[in-house]
Amino acid sequence: TEQEIDVYYKAVLDLVSLAGKVVNEGFSITKHVETKSGAADLVTEFDQRVEEILIKSLRETFPTHKFIGEESAAAGAKTVFGDDPTWIIDPIDGTTNFVHGFPFVAISIALAIKKEVVIGVIYNPVLDKLYSAVRGKGAFRNGRPIKCSGQKDLALSQVAGEYGSSREPHIIDAKCQNMRVIIEKVHSIRAVGSAAMNLCMVAEGSCDAYFEYGIHIWDYAAGDLIAREAGAYTSDPSGGPLNLLHRCILCTATKELAQQITPLLTHMKINSLLFV
Ligand code: IPD
Repeated sequence: TEQEIDVYYKAVLDLVSLAGKVVNEGFSITKHVETKSGAADLVTEFDQRVEEILIKSLRETFPTHKFIGEESAAAGAKTVFGDDPTWIIDPIDGTTNFVHGFPFVAISIALAIKKEVVIGVIYNPVLDKLYSAVRGKGAFRNGRPIKCSGQKDLALSQVAGEYGSSREPHIIDAKCQNMRVIIEKVHSIRAVGSAAMNLCMVAEGSCDAYFEYGIHIWDYAAGDLIAREAGAYTSDPSGGPLNLLHRCILCTATKELAQQITPLLTHMKINSLLFV
């Protein structure tokens, strides 16, 4: 019910500001860095600590809820995206930025009920920007309503894209090819290294579009809701409906922009299994 969702929303807003303090503690000090799926897929003790804090506290408050967390998944936790209320958590989106002291890092938390995201919260504690949305109630930055740009013309657009962490030559080739065809047609491309922040930038209107292949559900579940609540349009980059398990997204200020971008992209098929 709406009252229940309100309770969940208040709880996660309190919790995210606490978790933000831990991220900030780690931001400017030397971290212990390990790799996951490859040499450019990084994790630090702070990613793990923040995820632990978030899951422990939410589980205590809502014992029947389920969890999908980036670091729990990396550690081999069996997690399923089912109908139960499920918190989808990226403790630090933009871990590479976190390691290098580049300020685009965010805690991303979504709550899905019956596989539909009803709450999205993304907090960048370094820049102290809190983006949030509840389904049907608009999107907010630090409590103030935000709207996407409404841009319809690709030629006038600032587009966010990412290179991601895969270092497989054929994936790098396809991603560079996408940047190549897009740059010719737009004002600019930006790659700030956080899927969650990219979606918030489309939501607030500082970027007009964002696309990426290879991301995971925890990178885009919250940002998808925030962007849509700010009036943006999200889809599969190839044009179909967005799927949180398909590991890719195209998010645009308008449907018209999506229609201009989709035919330009080389559509990559990423193994759509959730935890790879
Ligand atoms: C990464 C960021 C980045 C994207 C990578 C993701 P992480 O998330 O969202 O923008 O290009 O594909 O893995 O690993 O820092 O949580």
